[in-house]
Amino acid sequence: MPSVHIPVLADPVVKWLAPTAPGLLVDATLGLGGHARALLEAAPGFQLLGVDRDPEAVAEARRRLEPYGRRVTLVNQSFDRLPEILLERDLPPPAAILADLGCSSLQLDTPERGFSFSADGPLDMRMGSDGPTAAELVNTADEEDLVSLFWRYGEERRSRAVGRAIVRQRPLDSTDDLRRLIERVVPRGGSQKIHPATRVFQALRIAVNDELGQLERFIEPAVRSLRPGGRMAIISFHSLEDRIVKHSFARLQGKCTCPPDFPECRCEPETLIRVLTRSPIRPTDDEIRDNPRSRSARLRVVERSGGS
Ligand SMILES: C[S@@+](CC[C@H](N)C(=O)[O-])C[C@H]1O[C@@H](n2cnc3c(N)ncnc32)[C@H](O)[C@@H]1O
Repeated sequence: MPSVHIPVLADPVVKWLAPTAPGLLVDATLGLGGHARALLEAAPGFQLLGVDRDPEAVAEARRRLEPYGRRVTLVNQSFDRLPEILLERDLPPPAAILADLGCSSLQLDTPERGFSFSADGPLDMRMGSDGPTAAELVNTADEEDLVSLFWRYGEERRSRAVGRAIVRQRPLDSTDDLRRLIERVVPRGGSQKIHPATRVFQALRIAVNDELGQLERFIEPAVRSLRPGGRMAIISFHSLEDRIVKHSFARLQGKCTCPPDFPECRCEPETLIRVLTRSPIRPTDDEIRDNPRSRSARLRVVERSGGS
């Protein structure tokens, strides 16, 4: 059955981005094309460049966006390559850029992709088709590196116990192998509503796909590529992502982001944008009820100032 992916915070995304049409709309995380379709419908003056590192997502979105014909160009690439993609295709400075971070329901609902602990599959977790899999990572990394990864990217309090158990038990090949191991060493219940494997799986996914590095490399060049008055909207799903978005936007707004103990500013901030959302936009209770995945979403929107 084809995956259903309800686009998160679609109404505010349309509200903030549609007024920048006509022009080029970049959906940097195309997924199944839910946001792209909402924006193409709302603003007939948009031409879409859809980017996704997952070839399966691009193929599925191509099918779903067929009715929009020549308004749509899709590229299977990572979003940190956006400046090169624009250049290679001789595209104009975008009027709007959207990034809806994380993974899609297509990825989560396909056990063979190994993203989810709810169904057994190979321990893969790659959004694209290159680079090491999660199995290669857990089976080869030093114990200390695993512990630090689970702590930094998953804030897993039992990181040390999980790292130790992995090193004792490896090789681990499947999502079930890893889930069972975690269930043995991470206590269930208490005030924790989430499954004990949630944080470790999140941490591995972030590491396998270099998600935070991708985001850090993406934001500033993407902002610079916008035309004056163009807008960028980013939806993040956990505090590690949102922190990068918030700090990058603060710096690009001209705020000094030097550590407080620096005697003078060394970051030499430029004012490239105006932040349009003073605090992040969150889903309403109704949206969370209809689409529980939206629960932790935060949307931030900025506008490119004039000049370059
Ligand atoms: C949450 S889904 C997007 C869903 C989409 N907005 C929709 O409405 O259908 C995130 C998508 O971004 C893609 N993605 C994540 N990181 C990426 C990156 N660095 N470069 C390109 N695509 C990325 C994933 O493969 C996934 O398909």
